[in-house]
Amino acid sequence: MRDSSLAESITSDLGTRFVGQRVIYFRRLKSTMEVARREAQQGAAEGTVIVAEEQTAGRGRIRRPWLSPRGSIAVSIILYPDTDYLPSLIMLSSLAAVRSIEAVTGLKLELKWPNDVLINGRKVCGILVQSDVRGNRVDYAIIGIGINVNFKLSNLPEISPTATSLSDELGREVPPLDIIRHLLVEVERVYLNLQAGDSIYEEWRDKLVTLGRPVHVTSGETVYEGIAESVARDGSLLLRHSDGTSTKIVAGDVTLAH
Ligand code: BTN
Repeated sequence: MRDSSLAESITSDLGTRFVGQRVIYFRRLKSTMEVARREAQQGAAEGTVIVAEEQTAGRGRIRRPWLSPRGSIAVSIILYPDTDYLPSLIMLSSLAAVRSIEAVTGLKLELKWPNDVLINGRKVCGILVQSDVRGNRVDYAIIGIGINVNFKLSNLPEISPTATSLSDELGREVPPLDIIRHLLVEVERVYLNLQAGDSIYEEWRDKLVTLGRPVHVTSGETVYEGIAESVARDGSLLLRHSDGTSTKIVAGDVTLAH
């Protein structure tokens, strides 16, 4: 069910030009990605945002489910970028998530390639970017951001060894609307800067805890081992193997080896 007064609390005096000027807010929903896709196909204005307090079929990267219980934030943002900016959307969303969570909580966050947001090595936020590209034109792109805000990980044993929430880290609850509003402002700021020619690659790269570390990377059916040597401007990871050869990985899942 939609809640227009909570949507209004997000849009009211937000100060953005377009991101978050239209918000569709749900208490409970299958997945914000699904609604965002439908809205984009119907030509929703750029910056339209779908928010859910709880998702019953949240989607993660690499076709995995994403747990989105009450107390989490699920946000999908519709953008219509030029094709050139597509590789930057992952960097854009992870930096916007880091900046906004740090601003509201004072916690120190880091990134695991390509876009897991961590606190002390545990995942607090996941990002999924989906786009529909026809020829050399982007029909639409959707940035999906899920943040573990106010719930106890001890109630979710399936993810508790590797995940955390803001309330678990701080020992107190965090106002979810503050996080969402900061997030929308940051997404727009970074998106406009990108279009003005600014690079976000360096800031994203410098926040990656992955670089210089021995890692396992699962990409499709293959597991690679090596040192995460560098990342390229298109977001791909360069892995150096012990025999001196290297592999460029475009999409995958990294485990830091200790
Ligand atoms: C991942 O780390 O695997 C990505 C998780 C992305 C979750 C967000 S929550 C908002 C949006 N709706 C979804 O169903 N998924 C994304």
